[in-house]
This record gives sequence, structure tokens and C-alpha cells, in this order.
Amino acid sequence: MLDKIKSLREQVESAIASSADEVEALRIKYLSKKGEISQLMNDFRTVPSDKKREIGQAINELKNFATERINALRDMAAASQAGAEAAALDLTRTPEPLPAGTRHPLSLVREEITSIFRRLGFSIADGPEIEDDWHVFSALNFAEDHPARDMQDTFFINASPEVVLRTHTSSVQTRVMEHTQPPIRIICPGRVYRNEAISARAHCFFHQLEALYVDRDVTFADLRQTLLYFAQEMFGSETKIRLRPSYFPFTEPSAEMDISCNLCGGKGCSFCKHTGWVEILGCGMVDPNVLSACGIDPNVYSGFALGMGVERIANLKYRVNDLRLFSENDVRFLDEFTAAQ
Ligand code: DAH
Repeated sequence: MLDKIKSLREQVESAIASSADEVEALRIKYLSKKGEISQLMNDFRTVPSDKKREIGQAINELKNFATERINALRDMAAASQAGAEAAALDLTRTPEPLPAGTRHPLSLVREEITSIFRRLGFSIADGPEIEDDWHVFSALNFAEDHPARDMQDTFFINASPEVVLRTHTSSVQTRVMEHTQPPIRIICPGRVYRNEAISARAHCFFHQLEALYVDRDVTFADLRQTLLYFAQEMFGSETKIRLRPSYFPFTEPSAEMDISCNLCGGKGCSFCKHTGWVEILGCGMVDPNVLSACGIDPNVYSGFALGMGVERIANLKYRVNDLRLFSENDVRFLDEFTAAQ
């Protein structure tokens, strides 16, 4: 039995462990209830009584020795683990670059449009999204019973017919003309609201960009040339434009502008419904009633205005076929525009 105790002591002395798991394995092997030392305790019962004292003492010493040794191994394993972690932590390493955000596609398109008009001498004007009836409708020559004022289209604040969410950025025209005498050359980008069910093709809010030019002797030819310049800067120098007669209460005459389809080059494809043309904006000569309503003398001044949907232009540029993508903030969609900045 003394030999057994001696050999166990040698085993414990030479045992090594480099991790907490290995230390635990040693503890189980020697010190647990079924471990080697407990086994000795069991065998102790058969030791003749004259040897009990000597062997009992030896077993106790072995137990104390094994306990100390295993505790020491546990401390060493913990220290070496901390050391390894410290070694892996390289404080001199340059930091990982943080992923940068991307510009929203609508911001990219708005910036592009505004920079084209800036080159023509237009400056940016701004107005409130919560507006009154006068600036959105009445001053812009909308008849009292015009359907755009209907509950179907317009969001009214607190059910008051007077306070509305603007349905178009044309309201900024009114605000600027009220406070400025010509020459006026402004662009107004902004968000607008309409009471529409949300689908791939319609949304209750979207973005428009309005342009207004008022001065002496502004003619339809100025409008046409401005539109051509814009279309070719935006969609390429091959782009053709076409103006179709239309109606807006605030312009006379009014027109809608198509550009030659930038997908098929005007030959006809499913995108342009085989017409070779796609519609992009509304425009016209500012109605004299609107100039008068805003305190500008229509006998001295004339002007043109145009308005376009930013989402529409973005769709033409990026072929986004679901309007909802623009406001859902899905990072997978937004990340697609990283290269476009
Ligand atoms: N405000 C019109 C709309 O929301 C767009 C528009 C058409 C603006 C003709 C204009 C314009 O300035 O001249 O549909």
C-alpha cells in the first residue's frame, strides 16, 4: 500500500495541465469520490491495525499534496490563458474601418437634378410640408371644387379644410413669389403627401422637384431649351424630348414632357410600352392669375414652371420597380448604391 501511495504521489507530481479542462480531468482522476485517493481510503479498511497510523498519515499527506498540486496547476492554466489572450491583443494594430453609410438613391438623384439647374443659375428654395390651402391650391388657381382638394387626395390636418399636408412642391412657388419680385430663378426639392393606398406604384408620400423662372420676356422657347438641357444632362446627350399639351390650373399653356426611352434609345421596348417615349414631368407658362395672386404684375413679367417626381427620375435611372423600396430602409437595397456616389 505504501508503494501505491508513493507511485501516486510521483504521478501527481509529474502531472501537467495546460487548460482548465485538463486540470479538472486531473481532479476527477485523483480527488473525486471515485478517484484514486478515495480508492485508497476504501482499501484502508483492510489495513492491519498496527499499520493504520502510518498508512493513514501517508494517505492524508498524499491527499493534501494532490489538492495543493491541482490548485497550483489550475492557477497556472488560468494565468497562461490570460497571457495568451494578452498576446493576441495587438494594441499597435490599426483599427478595422467602420462600415460607412451610403447616400440614399433619392438623395443622389435630387443632388444630380439640383446641380444641373444650379448650372443654369437656379438657387434652392424651401417651404413647409404642413401648408395652408392658399399656398397649395387657391393662389395656384385651383377652382373651389377642384378634385385635388378632395379628401381622396389631400391629407387634412385636424380635419380642417384650411391646413393640409402639401400635395405638391408648387406651394413653394407661391411662397417665393409672394416675397420676391422678379427676376426669380428657383428650384424647390421636397417631400409631398397624397392620400393613396401604398403599393408598388403609389405611395402616400413621395418627392418632387419644382423649378420656377419669372422675369421680363420669359417665353415658352426658354422653357423648352431649359427642358432639353436638363434632359440631356440627366440622361445623356442623345436624349430627345417631346412636349404634349396638358392641363394644370397654375400654368397656361401647360405641357407634359416625354424623353426618348433611355432603355431602348427610342426604338420601343416593354419599359416604354413600345412607344419609344417615357413621361417625366409637367410644365408650362405661369398663369397670369397666379402671378397676380402673388403680387407680381403679369403685364410686366412672365415665367415658366415645371415639376417632376424624384422617384420617377430615380426609376428611370436605376430601374427600381417598387416604390416602397425607397422608404423601407432595407440595407441590402441601399447598399446597391454605394458605387453611385
Ligand atoms: N404640381 C404638379 C403635380 O404635382 C406638377 C407640375 C406640373 C408642376 C406643371 C409645375 C408645372 O410647376 O408647371 O402634378
